[in-house]
Amino acid sequence: MTAPAVIILAAGRGKRMKSHTPKVLHSVGGRPMLEYVLRTAEALAPVQTVVVVGHRAEAVEAFLAGRAAVARQDPPRGTGDAVRCAMAALSAFRGTAVILSGDTPLLSAETVARLLAGHERSGAALTLATTRIPDPGGYGRVVRGAGDAVTAVVEERDAAPEHRAISEVNAGIYAIESSYLAAALTLLKADNAQGEYYLTDVIGIAVAQGRLVCAEAVDAEEVIGINSRGDLARVEAIVRERVRQQWMAQGVTMLDPARVLIDTGVTIGSDTVLAPGVWLEGATEIGAACVIGAGSHIISSRLGEGVEIKDHCVIDRAVIEDGASVGPFAHLRPDTVLRKKSKVGNFVELKKAELGAGSKANHLTYLGDATIGADVNIGAGTITCNYDGEHKHRTVIEDGVFVGSDTQFVAPVRVGKGAIIAAGATVTADVPEDALVISRVKQVVKPGWAKRLRETRGKKKETRG
Ligand code: UD1
Ligand code: MG
Repeated sequence: MTAPAVIILAAGRGKRMKSHTPKVLHSVGGRPMLEYVLRTAEALAPVQTVVVVGHRAEAVEAFLAGRAAVARQDPPRGTGDAVRCAMAALSAFRGTAVILSGDTPLLSAETVARLLAGHERSGAALTLATTRIPDPGGYGRVVRGAGDAVTAVVEERDAAPEHRAISEVNAGIYAIESSYLAAALTLLKADNAQGEYYLTDVIGIAVAQGRLVCAEAVDAEEVIGINSRGDLARVEAIVRERVRQQWMAQGVTMLDPARVLIDTGVTIGSDTVLAPGVWLEGATEIGAACVIGAGSHIISSRLGEGVEIKDHCVIDRAVIEDGASVGPFAHLRPDTVLRKKSKVGNFVELKKAELGAGSKANHLTYLGDATIGADVNIGAGTITCNYDGEHKHRTVIEDGVFVGSDTQFVAPVRVGKGAIIAAGATVTADVPEDALVISRVKQVVKPGWAKRLRETRGKKKETRG
């Protein structure tokens, strides 16, 4: 197979999505749909890839970040016009151009390679991918004539009733000789229901010119085009199911697979168990033998082996080392690091905070901008007061410190190794190693005082009554 050039059409408004976001940037399995098409293109090792952008071009270009050449189509006037815009970038190219749609993310590189191989074998001027679907609504219909040869593709909105009944549809994926393509594009007219330059008209033009047009049958699921939120949800469900099957095959247990969402970039070790409602997002890496509890949402975080995340935790860009335990109802915000066998319990929030090996913060605590050493006990209700209204400051708690309940650390502050902070302290100054800190009003006990109060109240009631 000689290396092709690839054109990806991604300039359309995506009107039917009713969205501010360009259609090709809508996410499927946690990645923009264009990412899938780009990877398919890259797998073909093309001479060049050109992505046609138009509607909110800056956003699409920012996503591409130089991975492909870009051609602008302004305004978007149809798929034929879009390809025309790409041709300037391919003026020096001679060979087969592969045209892909940015809204068809399930298409595999193997299928495109098969299309290309068939195209080369037949020597056709143009080969299009087609498939049969029971409900062809919205797709261009493939019209065949004598000897079953393809004669045209008719768009739904221009189709006569007999054409609408055709179940063979155009997948929107083509292999075409670049020199022929350039010539045929000059003949396109916008005399159709949408007033657009249809790429599909090139097929009728080629047939009329006596050129060979071939069709390659492809799998219907692979070429689902996303035009609406309904299509998006359908493709999303397919991708999610594929990812789940892949991880189950790798030894991951899912108690109710249909209620687990795993992004395509996530990795999971074997013997890890995922409870219902788990959502693993972004570049999350989970080690072996972890348990992720019901309703926990983990975003671009790294978990070691044997980590336990109890129910209903939100974990965002955190690192959790082997054997640590989190939750239920914990919130780990970006730059949290939990060292080996540390424990974070219910209603605990951490941000830019490191909790050392074997340390515990089991209840109702906020640890922000903090470095906490090994074997530290953080009592219930402890708060690092990290913000003075203008700046953030750090709290440092060294190894082996015991922090009693309801303690506030007014940062910046440092507590030396092995110190004990008595419950209810407000720590405003550094504490030396092995010291005890108590900062509370001395307790006063008045024997019998409560009883006497009740008695006085009782007498008042009697006189009122
Ligand atoms: C297109 C085909 C249809 C086929 C279907 C397969 C045409 C005229 N129709 O219809 O035969 O069955 O795909 O999914 O080609 N785009 C541009 N510039 C534009 C218009 C569109 O770059 O001016 C891009 C879109 O961003 C999209 C792709 O081309 O990625 C296809 O456009 P879309 O509007 O989705 O075409 P369909 O109606 O799906
Ligand atoms: Mg489409």
